[in-house]
Amino acid sequence: MSNTTVPSNRLTYWAIVPAAGIGKRMRADCPKQYLSLAGRPILEHTIDRLAQHALISEIVVALASRDPYWDTINLNSISKPVMTTSGGEERCDSVLNGLKAIESQAKDNDWVLVHDAARPCLRVDDIEQLIVQCKDTDGGLLGITVKDTMKEVDDDAFITQTLNRDHIWHALTPQMFRYRALRDALELGIKSGKRITDEAMAMELAGIRPKLVSAHADNIKITQPEDLALAEFYLQQQLDQQQLDQQQLEQQAHDFGNDLLDGG
Ligand code: CTP
Ligand code: MG
Repeated sequence: MSNTTVPSNRLTYWAIVPAAGIGKRMRADCPKQYLSLAGRPILEHTIDRLAQHALISEIVVALASRDPYWDTINLNSISKPVMTTSGGEERCDSVLNGLKAIESQAKDNDWVLVHDAARPCLRVDDIEQLIVQCKDTDGGLLGITVKDTMKEVDDDAFITQTLNRDHIWHALTPQMFRYRALRDALELGIKSGKRITDEAMAMELAGIRPKLVSAHADNIKITQPEDLALAEFYLQQQLDQQQLDQQQLEQQAHDFGNDLLDGG
């Protein structure tokens, strides 16, 4: 049997998980990414979902300095290497540190998927959609269209205009960009002094137009106490659906087997 070697120009898909926030709005005893959700810390669910996508080869988690909770994360069931690095002052600093942590291994054209630690209900199918729909673009992100009528207001909350909601989306994560382009854009954005709230914004400031890819609405960011119950509900719903799909597959295989026996 001949030895197969992986071509060196093959692109790698990295995942970076900013997990260095304190979860102020959650008002819990520990940072929200360590709260228990269906029996496992939120961060464990999040890493697990990313690891489940076949193309993602390594996961980098940016942690707060002297994070005492990381040791409680059980990586035994995670099928991919997980590396940690230190986070920064703002989310964008944590992401940039994640990029720096892989600089000796990542190629400029490698894809990097940045995903919030606080989004544990991410569907592997949605990661797939993001990758498929963005592979021939400068990169993009998962999003959902807004449902309500959107108003722009002044400082005193008086409406200045009604926005055309057909063109307004919620920006979610993962957000997927090429290693070098994202790193340059984040460095430039941070230097500009603007508050960079997501990777797409840094790319936009660099003159790129990221593509929005429609996601499932259950990819929520756990932000406030009530979101925990909602995330638990979504996880259970996803599990029930998986079991139903599995049962249907088994039934189909069973029916097919009977047809063969009947000579059909
Ligand atoms: N994050 C980070 N580094 C920071 C701030 C945030 O890595 N300096 C991460 C959070 O851990 C989270 C993600 O970025 O996974 C999205 O941020 P957010 O939901 O705002 O989390 P927190 O900043 O922790 O929450 P809060 O704003 O309520 O304090
Ligand atoms: Mg925050």
